[in-house]
Amino acid sequence: MNKNRMLAASAPNSSRLARNLRLLKENPRLFLQRLTTWFKPMRKVYRQRWNSGMRRWLRWYITQLQTSKVSWMGVKAQKMVLDCWVYQQIIHDTRPEVIIEIGNAEGGSTKFLANMLDIVGNGQVIAVDIDHSSFKGQHPRTSLVTGDSLSPETLARVGDLTHGRKGLVIHDGDHSREHVLADLRAYSNFVAVGSYLIVEDTVHDLFRAGDGLGRVNGPLSAVEQFLKEDKRFRVDSECEFFLMTYNPCGYLKRLA
Ligand SMILES: C[S@@+](CC[C@H](N)C(=O)[O-])C[C@H]1O[C@@H](n2cnc3c(N)ncnc32)[C@H](O)[C@@H]1O
Repeated sequence: MNKNRMLAASAPNSSRLARNLRLLKENPRLFLQRLTTWFKPMRKVYRQRWNSGMRRWLRWYITQLQTSKVSWMGVKAQKMVLDCWVYQQIIHDTRPEVIIEIGNAEGGSTKFLANMLDIVGNGQVIAVDIDHSSFKGQHPRTSLVTGDSLSPETLARVGDLTHGRKGLVIHDGDHSREHVLADLRAYSNFVAVGSYLIVEDTVHDLFRAGDGLGRVNGPLSAVEQFLKEDKRFRVDSECEFFLMTYNPCGYLKRLA
């Protein structure tokens, strides 16, 4: 172990001031080296990149990055990758027997979910989309249900495939308030107690309409109405621990 590490390790619980004073006494040269980093400006390119606020960063991520760069195992995914990490933790903690994903597009997110189930060793993805013509996320754990998420045929097929198994539902389909609300009402019974009904893209309701991202009456507005009607669910804001998410107030935990 080098001397610096030893100094840090020997006083893990002392205050930062006490640690720095100790370092000053025991290794003034290193102390001065460290002090200079407080006055040296951050390298210009990173200063410019990282000075943007979260709102600006999110706009850049959605408009520039997500569409062109974000994929899972070679298949495009319209996802905030930090949310995917949260999904991984939810899957690990709740062990869903079935994940219903409403809205699959090319299927990067669907494949991601199937791969997470591979890792925990159990479960199936039911992938619902009105149009699977561009879908490339095929996986042995995934069953496609093609149709409007609200059509009686789709709902009957999803019911047959879930067959009373412990469900997690992720909504990323039609994002208009009325459709999301109707989907939440229709799919909430598939969610197991202790599991989640995740509503994607509530973030758009937080932006100003007309700025390229904002919308009036999007998914968040549907969530607010749904929570007034269905007291079995509450927002689990713990799932927003990264702060950055596409789903503010969109992680709904089923309590009863
Ligand atoms: C935002 S994309 C899904 C993106 C995907 N989950 C991902 O992360 O890559 C929305 C999808 O919802 C589907 N969709 C729109 N309206 C729908 C409806 N009424 N029923 C089922 N799917 C619908 C669209 O065809 C589209 O593929």
